[in-house]
Amino acid sequence: LAQILFRDPNRPPVVFHYIPVLGSAVEYGMDPYKFFEENRKKFGDVFTFVLLGRKMTVALGPKGNDFILNAKVSDVSAEDAYHHLTTPVFGKGVVYDCPNHRLMEQKKFAKSALTVQAFRTYVPAIVEEVRNYWLKSPQFFDGDTNRASANAHLMTAMPELTIFTASRTLQGKKIRAKFDESFADLYHDLDRGFTPLHFVFPNIPIPATFRRDAAQKKVSDTYMELIRERRQTGDFSELDIINTFLKEAIYKDGVRMTDREIANMQIGILMGGQHTSAATSTWALLHIGADPELREALYREQIEVCGDDLPELTYENLQNMPLLNSTIRETLRMHMPLHSLMRKVRNDLTIQGSHYVVPKGHYVLAAPGVPMIDTTYFRDPMTFRPSRWDEVKNEIKLDSDSEKATISKGANSPYLPFGAGRHRCIGEQFAFVQLGTILSMFVREFTWTLPDGRGVPKPDYTSMVTLPSEPTNIIWTRRTVPK
Ligand code: HEM
Repeated sequence: LAQILFRDPNRPPVVFHYIPVLGSAVEYGMDPYKFFEENRKKFGDVFTFVLLGRKMTVALGPKGNDFILNAKVSDVSAEDAYHHLTTPVFGKGVVYDCPNHRLMEQKKFAKSALTVQAFRTYVPAIVEEVRNYWLKSPQFFDGDTNRASANAHLMTAMPELTIFTASRTLQGKKIRAKFDESFADLYHDLDRGFTPLHFVFPNIPIPATFRRDAAQKKVSDTYMELIRERRQTGDFSELDIINTFLKEAIYKDGVRMTDREIANMQIGILMGGQHTSAATSTWALLHIGADPELREALYREQIEVCGDDLPELTYENLQNMPLLNSTIRETLRMHMPLHSLMRKVRNDLTIQGSHYVVPKGHYVLAAPGVPMIDTTYFRDPMTFRPSRWDEVKNEIKLDSDSEKATISKGANSPYLPFGAGRHRCIGEQFAFVQLGTILSMFVREFTWTLPDGRGVPKPDYTSMVTLPSEPTNIIWTRRTVPK
């Protein structure tokens, strides 16, 4: 009753909850999209809910995304929202453990490594990694090159393939080799310290927290060793992100990033692309497996673009495969890995076009995944249909018969899987190269289906990214088994 009687008319409506601090944590945590939709029906696009003591104001729809993601840096802060979760994992001095203008420059340094010239070298490196992985992995050939068919668990295989291919390309051969030793376990420990529980209690004294802290130090030290070695030998030949930082990481005001900061930045970069890309490739493989026609169309595209004997894939080939790229886009539309993007409010913030004020100290939450599955923007949004993507110049045209079909790529676009504004992702092009190469390899080598005619699994929102719920298995069969 108090929640209704004492409502301040200048504040957004508050979602009713029984338990004060807990608030709506359970409903939101179980299925954020259902939670958003139910409350949008009650309150409209803007409302506040309590999440474990924090007051979160949601602004839905493209306007809400634009409002939050393009808000002034003096008004909202990502580092105030994420710092406590990410700093123990990435380490000090980088990403959200520094002023925003530093992060902007760190992103620029990283981005300058991600050139077409580099991508040309990444594609064959990813191809090689995928082959080696299949050969050794129990999910695939398990050392037996004559193995013709098996059941593979994607949520085991895809995170491994993602980290092997990302480390090899973004951080070079030496770091990749460390993943065959202890590095994989250390990254696992970092991961286990990057959970919704740690979002609320960053230093909760449990074994996972202690292991996280130990792993952070060891992983950062390993990057430091490599940095020292490269500086000593003067060998900066690999087109990876570490080298770009070693060559370029001097801020505009003349301050140099320290080697420790460069080391910590590598953790941030690898983790930034890890769950997002692993989730995306898993969802894509599940959708393709559930749709043999799409799978065969993708195979035909490989042959049309590369030739009958399917020579080694190149970066240029990938650019000429619209169906492959549309499949990735469609996967990101239906399964945006990050369902909630948060900022902490630094100055009282009036919500555009309303009289609502979000006070300093509260949070704002953008959910770009909401318009991506909204019938206002996408016809039949819960159907996976890569053919809806048909690029026309700078615009994305959806379903030519739809009035609302044409959407721009601007910040208030209904399609923002990589976010918008100053915190927008720097990894988009890399992700398309990595995902495109891995998916092409699967399409060329295998046919696959989901076991027992099962459909694509429902989403599971209980970790930091939106994953498919288990089981995430496929049954693969090789197109041709070597004699
Ligand atoms: C930021 C999505 C891959 C590095 C973001 C944001 C989103 C996103 C939505 C905005 C976060 C916010 O506004 O709070 C994705 C998706 C990916 C992907 C869907 C793959 C399918 C990658 C990769 C890298 C990367 C491969 C590294 C190479 C970053 C970085 C930021 C970022 C550095 C900036 C964070 C900030 O400025 O606060 N990503 N990402 N991401 N991403 Fe990605």
